[in-house]
Amino acid sequence: MAHLLIVDDEKSICEMLDIALRKQGHQVETVHAAAEARHKLESAIFDLVIADLRLSPTENGLDLLRFARSLDAEAAFVFITGHGSMETAIEAIKIGGVIDYIIKTPDLVDQVRYTVERALAYQRLGRENRSLKRELKSRNDAALAGLVGNSAPIQQLKQTIRTVAAASSTVLIRGKSGTGKELVARGIHACSPRAEQPFVSVNCGAFPESLLESELFGYVEGAFTGANSNRRGLFEAADGGTLFLDEIGEMTLPMQVSLLRVLQERQVRPLGSSQQIPVDVRVLAATNANLETAVKEGKFREDLYYRISVIPIELPALRDRAEDIPLLAMHFLRRFAEEMHKPVTRFSEESLRSMEHYDWPGNVRQLENVVERAVALAQGEIVSIGPLRETNGNGAPASGDALPALPPDGLERFIEGVERHYLASALQQAGGVRTKAADLLRMSYRSFRHYAKKYGI
Ligand SMILES: Nc1ncnc2c1ncn2[C@@H]1O[C@H](COP(=O)(O)OP(=O)(O)OP(=O)(O)O)[C@@H](O)[C@H]1O
Ligand SMILES: [Mg+2]
Repeated sequence: MAHLLIVDDEKSICEMLDIALRKQGHQVETVHAAAEARHKLESAIFDLVIADLRLSPTENGLDLLRFARSLDAEAAFVFITGHGSMETAIEAIKIGGVIDYIIKTPDLVDQVRYTVERALAYQRLGRENRSLKRELKSRNDAALAGLVGNSAPIQQLKQTIRTVAAASSTVLIRGKSGTGKELVARGIHACSPRAEQPFVSVNCGAFPESLLESELFGYVEGAFTGANSNRRGLFEAADGGTLFLDEIGEMTLPMQVSLLRVLQERQVRPLGSSQQIPVDVRVLAATNANLETAVKEGKFREDLYYRISVIPIELPALRDRAEDIPLLAMHFLRRFAEEMHKPVTRFSEESLRSMEHYDWPGNVRQLENVVERAVALAQGEIVSIGPLRETNGNGAPASGDALPALPPDGLERFIEGVERHYLASALQQAGGVRTKAADLLRMSYRSFRHYAKKYGI
């Protein structure tokens, strides 16, 4: 049932329409002049106004439409007109809110009945559509909330993710180590219509060739020595969802051939099986290698390269979006503080400065590692980052640097040795006075006693 307003200076038309539309189950009000119509529009909300385009020699329906739209941006009209003129129609379209026109003919009542139902259905669809869009937007915003950054490249990246999420083409995510390739892949999946289906991630560099093949495509019992039962491959596991092929540049040439076939045929054949299984999987791939060079060198198949790089996304290095560094650092500080139950709240000024000026060869992952270490070592509220050194891109010191030797008996034994050593020497310096030794070590007497007991000092 809808609330309808009929505006026509011809009383007989109003009466006819009133009866017909009430019969349809609608709540109907009728008025004969623009002034009355204005009054009604001010005092109630109508789903639809059915108005004569020419109300009197001086009043016209367009003014009424303008007035209604000024009160309610979603006000909708169906116009009845005896003189369907192109110009008025165009003018009305500019104002917006006109769903249909009806020409006055002998079967006006049927026309109105039909047009009103269609207009109401159209409105309902519009409303549903808008609410779906709102829902989708808030879902996508939530999916991308973990992608921290305000810089122009990150805003652009979020926009691209939203756009490509809707499609089902393969996306090639490129970027140096630690720039967030996997995070972006998960973001695309989460914003896509496949969000409720599985996201399966596989690192192509982590398996020897034969194993990668059986991981991806599965196998049947007896396919090779040790295949004691049937096993579904990751393509099948990702059916309906997304398969993320990380480090795709590491795939061997024969594997590339098999993958290309699956992408083209959209079906997989498990090892040892003669049957093809159809799969509906969206493939996202990532690489930190230069695939173009690999293609030139014959290490990566050109046809597969074109197939997977339909939509390329290039992730910026962290140093190229330095304004995001403090944001990311705080994001990680909060996360690790919570995980480690530490009451830290901020970085020292000096740490913030050195983080902003550092080159971050290992990108966001390195920043994450540095903050994790600093939070773990923090005492009190303020976190300080030690001196930042060049790394090999994974947050580990570069091979050119002198690597600190690892403790041969393991970290715990090493730390125990250090504790025992300093405890003993503090006690010696304090002339055997235990409270003084505790002071020298800046620890409470209680802790000192605990350690002394542990080491039999
Ligand atoms: N914009 C970002 N906001 C928040 N966290 C991020 C962002 N980018 C990356 N990270 C975090 O940094 C770490 C590295 O990201 P990710 O694993 O996606 O990078 P990658 O490009 O796949 O790295 P690699 O090449 O080493 O595999 C992850 O813990 C990820 O959550
Ligand atoms: Mg990765």
